[in-house]
Amino acid sequence: MTRTLITSALPYINGIKHLGNLVGSQLPADLYARYRRARGDEVMFVCATDEHGTPAELAAARAGQAVADYCAQMHEVQADLARRFGLSFDHFGRSSSPQNHRLTQHLAARLGAAGLIEVVEEEQVYSPADGRFLPDRYIEGTCPNCGYDKARGDQCEECTKQLEPTALIAPRSAISGATDLEVRKTRHLFLRQSALRDRLRDWITSKSDWPVLTTSIALKWLDDGDGLRDRGITRDLDWGIPAQFEGAPWEGMEGKVFYVWFDAPIEYISATAEWAEANGMSEKDWKRWWKTGEGAENVRYVQFMGKDNVPFHTLSFPATLMGSGEDWKLVDYIKSFNYLNYDGGQFSTSQGRGVFMDQALEILPADYWRWWLLSHAPENSDSEFTWENFQQSVNKDLADVLGNFVSRVTKFCRSRFGEEVPEGGENGPAEAALIAALAERLRAYEAHMDAIEIRKAASELRAIWVLGNEYLQEAAPWAAFKQDPARAAAIIRLALNLIRLYAVLSAPFIPEAAGRMLAAMQSADDSWPADVEAALQALAPGHGFRVPELLFAKISDEQREEWQQRFAGGRDA
Ligand code: MF3
Ligand code: ZN
Repeated sequence: MTRTLITSALPYINGIKHLGNLVGSQLPADLYARYRRARGDEVMFVCATDEHGTPAELAAARAGQAVADYCAQMHEVQADLARRFGLSFDHFGRSSSPQNHRLTQHLAARLGAAGLIEVVEEEQVYSPADGRFLPDRYIEGTCPNCGYDKARGDQCEECTKQLEPTALIAPRSAISGATDLEVRKTRHLFLRQSALRDRLRDWITSKSDWPVLTTSIALKWLDDGDGLRDRGITRDLDWGIPAQFEGAPWEGMEGKVFYVWFDAPIEYISATAEWAEANGMSEKDWKRWWKTGEGAENVRYVQFMGKDNVPFHTLSFPATLMGSGEDWKLVDYIKSFNYLNYDGGQFSTSQGRGVFMDQALEILPADYWRWWLLSHAPENSDSEFTWENFQQSVNKDLADVLGNFVSRVTKFCRSRFGEEVPEGGENGPAEAALIAALAERLRAYEAHMDAIEIRKAASELRAIWVLGNEYLQEAAPWAAFKQDPARAAAIIRLALNLIRLYAVLSAPFIPEAAGRMLAAMQSADDSWPADVEAALQALAPGHGFRVPELLFAKISDEQREEWQQRFAGGRDA
């Protein structure tokens, strides 16, 4: 059996994620996990909240809460939203877990023993007004690379460049806004990534099948002298994984914690350990996903993330794993995304601009959002959410094409033949043509899903739905019924079977509606079709069904305008 390990970039704990965050990692990862499961793989799909670092501390301070309490609470909020969006994680962990503390310290100790960690005296931005050092996001300023004026101390969101806080132009404190900043000396641990440059290059260049977006970012950082500079992996913060611990091969790191980007990706592994522990399993059970020689040599590992995360996943995290000298599973395929924009600008957590996960679900069920987001995933370029486009896509694809098919077929059958699959008649040339067309489109759909080409897969799925409508229009069972009821029965029998098939094929995109379609067909058979013709005979004559409630409601112009207005002002961050 194929075994597939899937991770989604970990959402920061600081607040509810917007739809741009969702479509950049968790949602496509879920689509793929559901698809691989449907194809019979053994799947391990993990995610977690990314709880350390300055974003967590800043958000907790704003909320007036202790950071540990804030994180525990926000983890529950995010886990609940993930569940309501149908994100089918095997485990949704926390990077602050004891498992992650242990594994992060273990890997750091291994790196230290291998000579890959150094204690370095470093210049750090200090704010006398705040009485503290200002690591990473505690400092903001203008990006020296692209001129973006809200660049953060660790990375510019605009051009994705990783930064050193001291490199920012016109820096200011993110806490107090103070600009009278000083540079002071302090000691930190540095990861000697540069020592691994050749191994990283060999590994990256061996990945000939990676998307261009992923490889181009990786190679840019590898070759840009700056990209693989040795990096500080500790910070002057309270909240985090202590950098001084028993058995640490260094001294003097009291009061410092590991940098959030050091421990966060390690949580992919730790989350799997959390999963095993939560299910009363042993170490072996998670190591067979992560240790080559202990089972992971048979695993295909796929990661999902936004483009700003690529340098960390192609360079720093692999450097951590390779440098440990242990047999950790490295990623096989990285699917990365551009940005989703909101109505002529950017989604922004700090400015509360756009639609956030909780708000989205107040308006419409998850499947409406899942369909729009996935069918417009920012794969090859940035894409944009507009309310007009959302309305159009929901009304056409979901209501007119899929929903209408289901409703017409089931209602027609109920009124003419009753609530069971009718018998009589047989397939003719129109059915043969439909089956051939479906078989071809199904192969294309599978090929796009296998390649994680999400937009292409969505448009193929839509085309599969359209085939059903075209067939119904042409075969016209309502007309046939008058002269030749047996002919009408054959058409409707096939159409009812199509509903079941559509449920199976659509489930990765719209799991809730697919479940309702299957329930209406009173079928538990959700097996992926090996053969279209056979799959269209799963529901035999006499099999009962129900007319489902409206599958998808159309979005009216009034609703669209109301939502447009409601979201124009932004929300409090
Ligand atoms: N929290 C990060 C972000 O939202 C992603 C972390 S991914 C991991 O950009 F590798 F650290 F896990
Ligand atoms: Zn920049």
